[in-house]
Amino acid sequence: MFKFILFLTLNCALIYARTVQFSVVAFGSNVQVKIGSTTYKLSKINNYDPVFTSKISLSDTSYSYKYIVDGKEESFTRTLSSSTTFTYNEFFGRKDTIKKLPEFSHPDKGTWKRSIGKTSLFDDSYIPTVHLYGENANLTFNDAKSRYISRVTFILKDDIVTLKNVACYPKNKSWPKFQFRLVTHSYTHDTSGVYGRYVIKFRDNNEDPTFFRQKLYADIMDTIGVPTIQTIFARVYVNNIPVGAYVLQEEAGSESFARACFHGDNNGHLKITNIDDLGHPLDCSTGADIAYGDGVKYSAFQPYNETRYNNSRVKKLAKALYDLNINSDSAIEKFDKEWFDITSFFKAVAMQYLTGHWDSYLFYSTNFAMYDDPTQSSGDKYKFYFICQDWDNTFGINLGKTYTRYDEEFTTISYKKYVNITWGIDKYDAPRRYAFDKLLSNKKLQNKFEKILTDIVKYIFNPKSFEPRLSAFVERFRDEVEFSYTTPHWRAGTEKIEWDMGDFERNINYRGRYGVKYGLREYIYRRAKGINSEFGLGLSIESKDYDNVKECGPGFVETEYRSIKNTKTLENDNAIYNILI
Ligand SMILES: *[C@@H]1O[C@H](CO)[C@@H](O)[C@H](O)[C@H]1NC(C)=O
Ligand SMILES: *[C@@H]1O[C@H](CO)[C@@H](O)[C@H](O)[C@H]1NC(C)=O
Ligand SMILES: *[C@@H]1O[C@H](CO)[C@@H](O)[C@H](O)[C@H]1NC(C)=O
Ligand SMILES: *[C@@H]1O[C@H](CO)[C@@H](O)[C@H](O)[C@H]1NC(C)=O
Ligand SMILES: *[C@@H]1O[C@H](CO)[C@@H](O)[C@H](O)[C@H]1NC(C)=O
Repeated sequence: MFKFILFLTLNCALIYARTVQFSVVAFGSNVQVKIGSTTYKLSKINNYDPVFTSKISLSDTSYSYKYIVDGKEESFTRTLSSSTTFTYNEFFGRKDTIKKLPEFSHPDKGTWKRSIGKTSLFDDSYIPTVHLYGENANLTFNDAKSRYISRVTFILKDDIVTLKNVACYPKNKSWPKFQFRLVTHSYTHDTSGVYGRYVIKFRDNNEDPTFFRQKLYADIMDTIGVPTIQTIFARVYVNNIPVGAYVLQEEAGSESFARACFHGDNNGHLKITNIDDLGHPLDCSTGADIAYGDGVKYSAFQPYNETRYNNSRVKKLAKALYDLNINSDSAIEKFDKEWFDITSFFKAVAMQYLTGHWDSYLFYSTNFAMYDDPTQSSGDKYKFYFICQDWDNTFGINLGKTYTRYDEEFTTISYKKYVNITWGIDKYDAPRRYAFDKLLSNKKLQNKFEKILTDIVKYIFNPKSFEPRLSAFVERFRDEVEFSYTTPHWRAGTEKIEWDMGDFERNINYRGRYGVKYGLREYIYRRAKGINSEFGLGLSIESKDYDNVKECGPGFVETEYRSIKNTKTLENDNAIYNILI
């Protein structure tokens, strides 16, 4: 009898003991986890990456624990639930490893089902860390020259993806913290990348003190159900030394994006893997309009791979639009089905107008991609999608009359004042907005556009609907912004803007220095108020705060900080130095 009880006890202990895999990103040499009052050592997963792990046997009660790096303990305690067997990849000093943020909502949310989905790479309940390793990485972050980086590791929520010999192209080098693009397949020819994405941009927030505008824009695009580039904030380190936080994003005019966004099963898998089987993505720079006729040039439609294809398909689309009988609903329906997805085009333009995205198709005939989906094309007809991008100068940044055209305060200007007007605001800009004007000259389509516009305001772009996600951003990402603003620069630049946390705090609400003409909350408020009153939406939009804001002092100048942008130039520095294997 006694033996039997002993047997039971032992057996229970065996059944209920669990092994828990601890994993933490840390920059130090001696990394431990303290569970209750016992301290365990974690080991580095390899010689290169800043991740430390250990499998520790624990009984199935809940525990509190914290990490210790080189003798320094975390200032808070973490909780391990009684059933967990792994911790995700935690980050030393960041209390919440996973935090689900409140999402925007909209009736069309989730309707774009043809992508591979966000996958772990773009799961923003987590903040990824990207580690670039090797001598070339060091050189590139010092001299801003393109090179192959011997090892790049993406530390994601529940996975660590390592890529070797990754091409790294710095850009916007006038900023001390430059932007860069990783092309992970050029050397290896392996396009599996990070969850199917093999061209990945690391953008900064250069002119946005809040850091949030580009991601908020991306999140709205995603919510309204258009095919769109994905965005997440990530920390970047080079050889264990911080570079800062970045806006990690897909590149709209790339095959990597086209494949991930149009040819997935909505659940992490690609339906087309061979990039030769894709359509022909075009990167559309200043002057691009889907117009046809005398004097129309297509050089602004640049093929992503000019070795393999050119922009001849978009000329066919332009001809089809030109020939379209805009008074025939059935002709429009056919055109929409065979040639051009009007809904996603309208959604993209509505967002450009709403956010004051002046570096865009609507205001400067620029910054979009066109993709013809082979699975929806037939014969000599190519079904195109319009993909918007480049969202740094939005929500009131550098908004100026050059692009917005009128003297009135921008958020009070009706979209109608941008239809059928003459453009050609400089020698690069297209003379008109042919595609937009023509489609809107059909009454039904105009109504459709207005419904799209007002629905975005009704469901997302108003203070009440916007606030939960925005305040969650402030709470969740403030530390990331601070990390970025306080990380010493690797190199000098010539740009004068250098944001601090004062700029951050202020611009969440109010206008900022340089060309930051509106606070984020202020902008949403004013925009919603303008649309609400123009269309009689009946939303109750109140604010005591933003109607009579007066800021003055150095930096708060009324001028356009960047009066006119240079036309987008193609990368001319694609030469790669020093292959290091
Ligand atoms: C990194 O590059 C800089 C500048 O080229 C050089 O001075 C430094 O020694 C390099 N550091 C390492 C660890 O290679
Ligand atoms: C970065 O460079 C591109 C051209 O390569 C330009 O269009 C863009 O405005 C620049 N962004 C910043 C923030 O300087
Ligand atoms: C373009 O396609 C050619 C032929 O497949 C390939 O060798 C080249 O690397 C591609 N270029 C880019 C930028 O992907
Ligand atoms: C563009 O590509 C098509 C095939 O896709 C080819 O027939 C045509 O000659 C090319 N045009 C130019 C200008 O290279
Ligand atoms: C633009 O002009 C066309 C005719 O050229 C007209 O049918 C259409 O109603 C105009 N659109 C607006 C919004 O004024």
